[in-house]
Amino acid sequence: MTKLKWGMIGGGEGSQIGPAHRLGALADGRFEMTAGALDHRPEAGRAYARTLGIAADRAYGDWQEMLAGEKDRKDRIDLVTVATPNATHFEITKAYLEAGFNVLCEKPMTMTVEEGEEIVRVAEKSGKICAVNYCYSAYPMVRQARAMVRAAEIGKVRLVVTNFAHGHHGDATDADNPRVRWRYDPAMAGVSGQFADCGIHALHMASFICDDKVKTLSADFASTIPSRVLEDDAMVNFRMEGGTVGRLWTSSVAIGRQHGFDIQVFGETGGLRWASEQPNQLIYTPVGGRTQIIEKGESGLHEDAQRLSRVAIAHPEGFPLAVANIYCDLADAIAGEARDGLPNAADGVRSMAAVHTAVASAQEGGAWLDARPSIFRD
Ligand code: NAI
Repeated sequence: MTKLKWGMIGGGEGSQIGPAHRLGALADGRFEMTAGALDHRPEAGRAYARTLGIAADRAYGDWQEMLAGEKDRKDRIDLVTVATPNATHFEITKAYLEAGFNVLCEKPMTMTVEEGEEIVRVAEKSGKICAVNYCYSAYPMVRQARAMVRAAEIGKVRLVVTNFAHGHHGDATDADNPRVRWRYDPAMAGVSGQFADCGIHALHMASFICDDKVKTLSADFASTIPSRVLEDDAMVNFRMEGGTVGRLWTSSVAIGRQHGFDIQVFGETGGLRWASEQPNQLIYTPVGGRTQIIEKGESGLHEDAQRLSRVAIAHPEGFPLAVANIYCDLADAIAGEARDGLPNAADGVRSMAAVHTAVASAQEGGAWLDARPSIFRD
């Protein structure tokens, strides 16, 4: 099988998410790393690309140079990953889609809802794939949860409760550290801090597992460290189109919590619980019955969960392999085999609409507002 050619923008040496993309994209032998503009400093980006084995003529200084260099090549890249800081996603993703490349964009896909809607239109017009890296949805046990909901194994879902609350920005004496401070500065982060950073993962996960869409929400935002302009803690109540009640807490000042992402789904005949710190287990309780642990890799899983379990039962799988599952689904989609679990531009713009709606709701004292982007309203 010929490997697909993969390029990356951002994710340079020392970046947080770069290694997970490289491990994920290269894990299954479906992609080879062919091109890169990896760093905001052109020379550092070129040099790092060379150490990763990228040929000198495809180790680019910036994304524009990479676009110009790749677009007319016969052996041009099949997929580009955009793993730069948030404010650059729109411009880069749009330019590559318009030039006919498939794109995997990091979250949040854009800064505004209008930009998000534009990406949906451009992707549709180009006929190319625009995926968004909501990689938690690609853990096998998350796919199992969604398949169980779809198969009505817990009945109609009444309630979904999710937290993405960590404590890594909880030290007030570290609040001025430039690596922390920008996240709460509107000039750098946009309209929202913690909700746009972590809350949207939780909200996407609620939609993903419940197989439903967020319709309305009411938000309470707090900046618990007074120097912060943007929120470092948020509580968001929401309702889904199918009637499910949703509760979401996200925080960066929950000292003692590490990754802190979990989700519980309560249906009429059972409940499910998944936590990112124990990703290989799904906890299931049928109504009136005993609580059970469903393990990644065991027999009898739903097909999607089985397909994405890589190593034998009880051998832990983690974050990079969830990212690898996104890349596998992308390789299948590029080959023409659509994967309905792959998060796309529609998911990206729904998140942006939720962020802007939550900001407006918090400013209006928790008013309930329509959280859908206008392109998806009735
Ligand atoms: P980071 O600050 O650790 O690294 C950013 C990298 O991009 C650096 O190597 C920097 O030199 C490079 N860069 C910046 N501007 C560039 C440009 N114009 N052209 C080329 N390279 C450029 O940032 P981090 O934490 O890796 O975040 C990057 C993106 O990934 C963000 O959008 C973030 O929200 C997202 N992210 C997603 C996660 C997920 O779970 N899906 C987890 C962590 C981050």
